Amino acid sequence: MPDLKVQMTKTIKSIAVLTSGGDSPGMNAAIRAVVRTCVFYNKSVFGVYRGFDGLIAGDIAELNSKSVKNIIDQGGTILKSARSDEFRTKEGRKKAFDQIIAHGIDALVVIGGNGSFTGAHIFFEEFGVPIIGIPGTIDNDLFGSDVTIGYDTASNTVIGCVDKVRDTAQSHNRMFIVEVMGRDSGFIALNAAVCTGAIDVILPEENKTYADLFAELDRGAANKKTSNIIIVAEGNKLGNSFEIAAKIKEKFPLFDIKVTILGHLQRGGSPTNVDRLLASKLGVAAVEGLLNGRTDQMAGVVDDKLTYTFLQQAILNKARIDFELLRISKILAI
Ligand code: F6P
Repeated sequence: MPDLKVQMTKTIKSIAVLTSGGDSPGMNAAIRAVVRTCVFYNKSVFGVYRGFDGLIAGDIAELNSKSVKNIIDQGGTILKSARSDEFRTKEGRKKAFDQIIAHGIDALVVIGGNGSFTGAHIFFEEFGVPIIGIPGTIDNDLFGSDVTIGYDTASNTVIGCVDKVRDTAQSHNRMFIVEVMGRDSGFIALNAAVCTGAIDVILPEENKTYADLFAELDRGAANKKTSNIIIVAEGNKLGNSFEIAAKIKEKFPLFDIKVTILGHLQRGGSPTNVDRLLASKLGVAAVEGLLNGRTDQMAGVVDDKLTYTFLQQAILNKARIDFELLRISKILAI
């Protein structure tokens, strides 16, 4: 049997893991991978409940390989998650550091998105606690990983829902405006638009006007389209889905328009093959990175290769949507 262990350069005896921000499918698979990798290397491993809020409150328990059995297929996070206001304050972070010392924790794995990594980076700068981030967000908006944990599952969920909506759209000759998550990013929306054959998509990353939107709808009408689906990312600049529906109705009074907001159902469900694999790889990479002396970095996968990106880079350089995909979606929506 080959030696499976990486060369260690740093003495870390115990690692804590937490999930922070919006939950995403695959977080549990990542927790499992972190815990089992720690056990593999004979390190103590702690679970921190409720994200940074739980760290501040000392809501921490020691885990073992059995603690994470039967969770690889579960959505959500067994550690629970939170967006911590207190961790934004220096006093809150000091309390968190005190808990780290009190529990004998040498390093931290933070599974989350942009906001969580911002807090993690500041915490590292202030107190020097070794930290590795794992990108867990359905938004897919982190620089340093081609995909984030949860994005694939959420995209599949959205596609499944839009396919169902299409049945009614075509049966009743209706237009559906389907709103998907993405406060600042249009990855889910753009992906769904291509994969469901939507007539148009409205993204936070573009400055689309109503004239642009109406031109697409005119093109559809000229091609005798009888039903239409428009995918709207929640953070788009045109307006909310109901405002967009009202504007379209003003211009095209004969359209029978319905709005469907998919909301939090997009964040739930059993993770896909892609998300389980990614979570497993990154969980191992996070622990091995820490044991090798890495800190203040995010483990990710770029061009199929494991990479580590400094947290500050991951936060500052937003992942960019593929505008070529937008062009493709327009060609195919004819
Ligand atoms: O950050 C991920 C995300 O899914 C965003 O796209 C969305 O705006 C937000 O979470 C919603 O978060 P909450 O669960 O706090 O309403």
